[in-house]
Amino acid sequence: MSCPYARELNGEDPNAERCLGDFKGINYTNYLQLHGILGSQNCITSAHDEHLFIVVHQAYELWFKQMIYEIDSVRALFNEEEVNEHKMLEIIKRMQRVVLILKLCVDQFVILETMTPLDFMEFRDYLSPASGFQSFQFRLLENKLGLKSESRVRYKQETYKKVFGDDPEILEAIKQSEEEPSLQVLLSRWLERTPGLEEEGFNFWLKYKIAVDTTQEEKRREAEAEKVEHMKTHMMAQYKRRQELFDSIFDVKVHNALVARGERRLSHRGLQGALMISFYRENPRFNQPHQLLNLLMDVDSLITKWRYNHVMMVQRMIGSQLLGTGGSSGYQYLRSTLSDRYKVFIDLFNLSTFLLPRNSVPPLDRQMKSRLSTMGEPDSEERRGKVVWSRPRSEPGFVSSDSPCPMDNVDNGEEKVSSDSDLEKSLEDSIERSCEASM
Ligand code: HEM
Repeated sequence: MSCPYARELNGEDPNAERCLGDFKGINYTNYLQLHGILGSQNCITSAHDEHLFIVVHQAYELWFKQMIYEIDSVRALFNEEEVNEHKMLEIIKRMQRVVLILKLCVDQFVILETMTPLDFMEFRDYLSPASGFQSFQFRLLENKLGLKSESRVRYKQETYKKVFGDDPEILEAIKQSEEEPSLQVLLSRWLERTPGLEEEGFNFWLKYKIAVDTTQEEKRREAEAEKVEHMKTHMMAQYKRRQELFDSIFDVKVHNALVARGERRLSHRGLQGALMISFYRENPRFNQPHQLLNLLMDVDSLITKWRYNHVMMVQRMIGSQLLGTGGSSGYQYLRSTLSDRYKVFIDLFNLSTFLLPRNSVPPLDRQMKSRLSTMGEPDSEERRGKVVWSRPRSEPGFVSSDSPCPMDNVDNGEEKVSSDSDLEKSLEDSIERSCEASM
């Protein structure tokens, strides 16, 4: 590949010896607008370390910009009518990029930490009231990922937007980032469409409930049969705790109450989709979704690590008693942002609470196995990976398409169903009917 800055010489002898300066048109400095960027380190004191302080902040802001760019593009891909496997690959690639940038951001603090607190003291007082609290890009990043206003720690009983009071452009961008569907919201909607959740089809949730009830019943019996009293008490307590947790996911009202309190973020059905992907991740169609869920947890973990490294650096520079230049309690305020309320993909971390031992996981039936496999009849649209998760017509923002969803064909029984799977289906139906009767 040729260098992007190279250009044809206008009508000059192509064999003549050339040096870079001979090329007309775009050049490195102009293309990257380096005069602007490199002319923007305007120190306000003569303190030597102020230059580093500015460069580090600017580098962070550039990385914030790139992450916002990637997240916006991923949100757009998720917001389309269909999320096929090609798009999933692109989504994963971009989220991997975000994860790597975040890793860099976490590590970058060590460079600023070469500045001692005494060096910092030389110019700190001149910075007030400027503060990282006014980083609007950091707020955009948080909002676009899905941090909700009500989950934020209030700063001097004020909204975080107060610091942008006199800048209508920033305020508008922040308002938009709060109103548009965040990555978390789009993820939840996408998970709701996980193949296998359909009540009239595989009905994962019902099968999972039966498996949980059976496992829990075994645990209760084991605890009751225990002869050593203190062991029995411990096992019974564990059984009851797990039962409470399971009840909280099976009872939609409890789930929604936890969502309202900010302790869960996915919709009830979205949570079912995420759990299903975790259980059956080794099936080809769930490989990429599972990878994505892991990347989203990485994003949350890395932002928490960023917050942690930042607050450690703040303590090292100004201790835990001084107020921040932005007027907050400084270290104390920043420490409170390390809470789980700031994790937008918290449900994905908590999925492990609801996992079952491998031998208790409901087996996939033939039809479901074939839906989640990448092999099959070559002329089937679904097999070619054209469409996986299609948006239902009832979903907000759905762009109508007249072509039916190939997944619907599978559910409508257009796929060849062998006599074996007919038998399995009728057995499942009878199990489901008896379960419904006992619920
Ligand atoms: C000597 C280095 C630093 C010190 C002492 C420091 C101090 C602080 C303090 C005290 C706050 C709380 C708000 C306030 O009252 O000012 C804050 C917030 C913040 N700082 Fe820094 N900071 C430093 C470096 C950085 C760097 C390199 C970045 C990178 C962009 C950064 C980004 C932020 C952000 C985004 C917030 C808002 C965090 C939130 O509200 O959750 N800071 N900083």
